[in-house]
Amino acid sequence: MSVMGGQVDVVIVGSCMTDLVSQVQRLPKVGETIHGHKFFIGFGGKGANQCVQAARMGAKTAMVCKLGNDFFGDKYVQNFKDHGISTDYVEQTAEAVTGAASIIVNDAGENAIVIVAGANLLLGNEEIQRAKPAVSQAKVLVCQLEISPDASLKALHMAKESYVRTIFNPAPAIADLHSDFYKASDVFCCNESEAELLTGQTVATVEDAGKVGVELLGRGCGSVIITLGAQGCVVITAQGSSPKHVPTSKVTAVDTTGAGDSFIGALAFYIAHYPTMPLEEMARRANLVAAVSVQTEGTQSSYPCKKDLPSALF
Ligand SMILES: Nc1ncnc2c1ncn2[C@@H]1O[C@H](COP(=O)(O)OP(=O)(O)OP(=O)(O)O)[C@@H](O)[C@H]1O
Ligand SMILES: *[C@@H]1O[C@H](CO)[C@@H](O)[C@H](O)[C@H]1NC(C)=O
Repeated sequence: MSVMGGQVDVVIVGSCMTDLVSQVQRLPKVGETIHGHKFFIGFGGKGANQCVQAARMGAKTAMVCKLGNDFFGDKYVQNFKDHGISTDYVEQTAEAVTGAASIIVNDAGENAIVIVAGANLLLGNEEIQRAKPAVSQAKVLVCQLEISPDASLKALHMAKESYVRTIFNPAPAIADLHSDFYKASDVFCCNESEAELLTGQTVATVEDAGKVGVELLGRGCGSVIITLGAQGCVVITAQGSSPKHVPTSKVTAVDTTGAGDSFIGALAFYIAHYPTMPLEEMARRANLVAAVSVQTEGTQSSYPCKKDLPSALF
């Protein structure tokens, strides 16, 4: 079924974006042209980021996504192939461009960003249906919200029907998230600001995260993880159980872009490879993988491979 041969363990249904990053002393004013001192192109998009992290850890992965039939789309297909990711369900369309994020960063680290979702929004129910052979045989399915919410929900339901475990990352969050998303999530994983938006409550401390996590769990998910940056994460596994804070190692963060996606990609790897491992232990290990990613610049380029990680994580 797959060009890679054999069964796929981790299926990601989600977005791909090309990041076009310019570094400048200060952000330009309206109508102004200024010179920047650095430019680079990076592979991004939450879905693809998570897929690449899972693949780098050694998971057999497939990406379900839509790209433009253009230069950046071709490059993205090659990026997946370079990572051994199955592209059986990567489609290219002439109807829209490959998703792009034009990012301007000033020397103070502030930014201005324009995102054009493009082809990502054309990933619909038909494409999800075509991916059923991979989804129904997988060990875990992962979705986010950078594609149409309908398509994400369809993928989650398809996985549940085949008893495939699901990770749902409600990012970027929408305040009125449909209640079916909670019921279809075995692991509901979000960051502090997403948890705030979803519940309307402030998340300023580990205790707050625990409380908000309990509320999210009550909406019907199997378990909840709220990531807390340098503070690691909070895991809530069952009704009535107390939230567990899972701290991470203290490191010098250079660039935290994409840390959340590194965490989720690693989590997907652990669910696929160690299905009986307690979620708290998976979260502890995913923290350590994501902590490596923040110590170098870039998004996917900062994600560690299996060979870069201590063997105790495997
Ligand atoms: N400064 C840090 N030191 C150590 N680990 C970190 C740091 N920042 C992030 N992490 C790790 O990455 C995980 C995700 O980080 P965070 O909660 O900031 O997600 P996020 O906001 O979705 O990330 P981003 O939006 O930057 O991609 C954390 O749970 C933690 O394991
Ligand atoms: C949480 O993730 C969103 C993207 O979905 C990002 O915009 C936001 O900055 C993150 N919040 C924190 C506290 O890192």
